[in-house]
Amino acid sequence: MTTTPAFRSIVKGTGGFAPPYVVSNDDMGKIVETNDEWIVQRTGIKNRRLMKRQGEFSTADMANEASRQALQMAGLTALDLDLIIMGTVTPDYRCPSCAVVLQDKLGAKNAVAFDVSAACAGSLFALNIADKFIRTGSMRRILVVGGEAMSTITNWTDRNTCVLFGDAAGAFVLEAAPTHGAAAAPGLVDSRIWSDGSTWNFIYQPAGGSRAPLTPEDITAHKDRIVMNGREVYKVAVRTLVDASKTILADNGYTAADVKLVVAHQANLRIIEAVGERLGLGLDRFVINIDQYGNTSSASALVTFDEAVRAGRMQQGDLVLMLAIGAGMCWSSALYRVP
Ligand SMILES: CC(C)(COP(=O)(O)OP(=O)(O)OC[C@H]1O[C@@H](n2cnc3c(N)ncnc32)[C@H](O)[C@@H]1OP(=O)(O)O)[C@@H](O)C(=O)NCCC(=O)NCCS
Repeated sequence: MTTTPAFRSIVKGTGGFAPPYVVSNDDMGKIVETNDEWIVQRTGIKNRRLMKRQGEFSTADMANEASRQALQMAGLTALDLDLIIMGTVTPDYRCPSCAVVLQDKLGAKNAVAFDVSAACAGSLFALNIADKFIRTGSMRRILVVGGEAMSTITNWTDRNTCVLFGDAAGAFVLEAAPTHGAAAAPGLVDSRIWSDGSTWNFIYQPAGGSRAPLTPEDITAHKDRIVMNGREVYKVAVRTLVDASKTILADNGYTAADVKLVVAHQANLRIIEAVGERLGLGLDRFVINIDQYGNTSSASALVTFDEAVRAGRMQQGDLVLMLAIGAGMCWSSALYRVP
């Protein structure tokens, strides 16, 4: 059992943004040798939303849109923020962090901002870190963001990967709420993070880092783009997300039957179905939007949570399980009691 902290993080506002350019599976069939039937059967994806041309939107631009929505829902301004933590592997610049670019766009002059690199699990890693500041009482209002321009690191000649990803950003405004020692107090009940470095090369960009600085030949060979061992990723994802769910539920005295809604990173509908089956949770308990966005990496969990809030799928007292996994491999689970 975990002890009750003095404060819990309440999600005061949520936001989600995806660029307006919709690319269907039929559109993908014009770029690589693929088809709608294969993509839907293997992944559940029907459309993805992409930045039309490089530069039309950046990761920070999308994050700015999502963050403004979240601040508006929270009834706060950017000046109220103490901290901005952003999960991304596609920042506007390799240096500085995307979070400081976002801080500037928002005018969040009273905040400190930094990035977290945990790929598709980035926003839940950011949530985990933000919650530490809130629990200790050292910060009151924190913006957690996941933003990803996946189209800029996708190899558009590789059908194994290019059909999977989309661009988007999601945001949470967290606020500290006193628990007065009540274990049942609403907010973020618990969150956990894990990584397994031995699987770092299951999803990675071979060139463009300090190990292999980019050459013109690398660009021609698409070595600055993601390569993925899809089958291994699939196996690790199902195993770790089931374990992460069972661990956080058991440690807090719950079972899967107590979970009202699951907000999981939308990597693949088959992964979500397999996790649900092993936990004994039907697909109706999961919020699904992969059909419209594809895999938007760190944006995914927050965009999905935002859609559930705006669709009225979260009622007071509901226990929500959040899950994410990404390159690293890194994974996370979180339990949220709706205030
Ligand atoms: C990528 C993934 C959908 C592939 O599905 P799969 O059932 O494992 O398919 P395989 O990789 O075994 O490929 C089967 C065949 O389909 C082909 N194929 C791959 N992509 C294709 C596409 N877009 N269209 C048509 N055929 C395709 C392969 O070339 C292969 O053909 P072959 O048997 O002639 O070699 C699946 O492995 C997956 O979802 N993995 C997890 C990926 C993920 O979630 N990554 C992000 C984690 S955050």
